[in-house]
Amino acid sequence: MFDNVLLEIDDRIAILSINRPKALNALNQATLRDIGAALTHIEAEKAADVLIITGAGPKSFVAGADIAEMKDMTQAQAREFAWVGQNLFKRLQSTPMPVIAAVNGFALGGGCELAMACDVILASEKARFGQPEVNLGIIPGFGGTQRMARLVGPQWAKYLCMSGDLIDAKEALRIGLVARVYPPEELLGAARKLASTIAGKGLIAVGLAKQAINEGLGLPLDKGLEIEVDKFVEGFGSEDRKEGMQAFLEKRKPEFKGR
Ligand code: CAA
Repeated sequence: MFDNVLLEIDDRIAILSINRPKALNALNQATLRDIGAALTHIEAEKAADVLIITGAGPKSFVAGADIAEMKDMTQAQAREFAWVGQNLFKRLQSTPMPVIAAVNGFALGGGCELAMACDVILASEKARFGQPEVNLGIIPGFGGTQRMARLVGPQWAKYLCMSGDLIDAKEALRIGLVARVYPPEELLGAARKLASTIAGKGLIAVGLAKQAINEGLGLPLDKGLEIEVDKFVEGFGSEDRKEGMQAFLEKRKPEFKGR
């Protein structure tokens, strides 16, 4: 269906694999377009409840933006490229559908930025993270300076963005860049398991939690708390809320409908 990504949908869980293994799944413009088109397809068809993003091949999640393609870009083209990447990653952040990154290898530059635009990052023990753009004479352009600082704080963000050093999965776990680490052969199974756990909840509530956290992050606490109240109240209007509370009181498993 797409040249640069594979999309599998099974049991309402979509797995999108970035598929340019010869270039370690580097993001060129065509791949960014394919990721966007795959997301549009999933959303338009309401084809899945949870999206998992991973990298094809054993070695890399995504090794960054495509350096060969960037080499001859003018500043105007670089601006356009950064906006395209940032807008795509904003879509991942703002879709109510939960998005899990299953980082199976290198997540560098635009690859680390892609993972950070997802809601939860799971990593293989073989994963390596970094923002090595300074080695190329540039800085991250798909959100790395901003999301890294928000996720792990300015200290580690500056360390990674200024040194270009790579860190392993254990270190990424320690600094809070990833939620969990698995042996490589267990990573995708673990991502599927988390996806089905989330999909089994009231999906309205799941989407509201995602929005409340994301929307509140850049705001003063009082404003964030107002957002939480609004989303809390919105959840109260759902059928899933009635079912969830009724099921609890009747000591049975809730049957959520996502409405
Ligand atoms: N862009 C284009 N091609 C890439 C690439 C990238 N980001 N990363 C790897 N490749 C290609 C290599 O050129 C190589 O191609 P050939 O076989 O045709 O020579 C192939 O993938 C395999 O890579 P290596 O031979 O280098 O593999 P390795 O195991 O020796 O090293 C690596 C792996 C450490 C990840 C190394 O490839 C590397 O450092 N890659 C670049 C990482 C990087 O700088 N990423 C940031 C890009 S800039 C960015 O992302 C900006 C932004 O924020 C938007």
